[in-house]
Amino acid sequence: MSRPFRIAPSLLSADFARLGEEVSNVIAAGADWIHFDVMDNHYVPNLTIGPLVCQAIRPHTTAPIDVHLMVKPVDRIVPDFARAGADIITFHPEASEHIDRTLSLIRESGCQAGLVFNPATPLDYLDHVMDKLDIVLLMSVNPGFGGQQFIPSTLDKLRQVRSRIERYRETSGREILLEVDGGVKTDNIAEIARAGADTFVAGSAVFGAGRDADPHRYDTVIATLRNQLSQVA
Ligand code: DX5
Ligand code: ZN
Repeated sequence: MSRPFRIAPSLLSADFARLGEEVSNVIAAGADWIHFDVMDNHYVPNLTIGPLVCQAIRPHTTAPIDVHLMVKPVDRIVPDFARAGADIITFHPEASEHIDRTLSLIRESGCQAGLVFNPATPLDYLDHVMDKLDIVLLMSVNPGFGGQQFIPSTLDKLRQVRSRIERYRETSGREILLEVDGGVKTDNIAEIARAGADTFVAGSAVFGAGRDADPHRYDTVIATLRNQLSQVA
């Protein structure tokens, strides 16, 4: 089965002093989504960017902004991101006291909703909420930092989620996206796609490679990622 693939560069590895420019450059270079990592130094051991920064980059692109919340608690901040122009909001089930309620809140705020699974988080959290999901995000590193190594056991977990999504599609007719986040590079993206992912976060792979060029160019690395994906049946 061939699926359209999406590439979502993570701003975590972008130049924070020039974020607007980085956003428009990476989209002009062929990226599909902007992945926006929100860390709170509480749920994860790092601190990044919030709704004000989302609002600031919003005018620089019409591409979807994919907000990955690594914060606890979750609900307080959801409407702020919706107002700041987020299109997709995902969160970690361990960080929410009421997962079903948080998923509803995201959709009521006008965004698409998703759950994020850490490498050791069981997939059971999917059991009762498929109708409320637009996307499932599998972490292929432990959350908190860019530039980590892809954890190989994610491939088997991807296959398990893909089969759950296919079963759900057969009964509901509804498509749920399957995104992967962490350590995605030009030399493993094809294998990750074969395991079932259709949406790929790539932080250091995109912004690291582009930064070597002057002016910063991301088209070569994004074309290489797409070329690898085009070889996946
Ligand atoms: C990690 C973040 C990722 C990270 C990916 O907690 O959720 O989005 O930026 O970075 P790379 O692609 O460098 O592994
Ligand atoms: Zn992320």
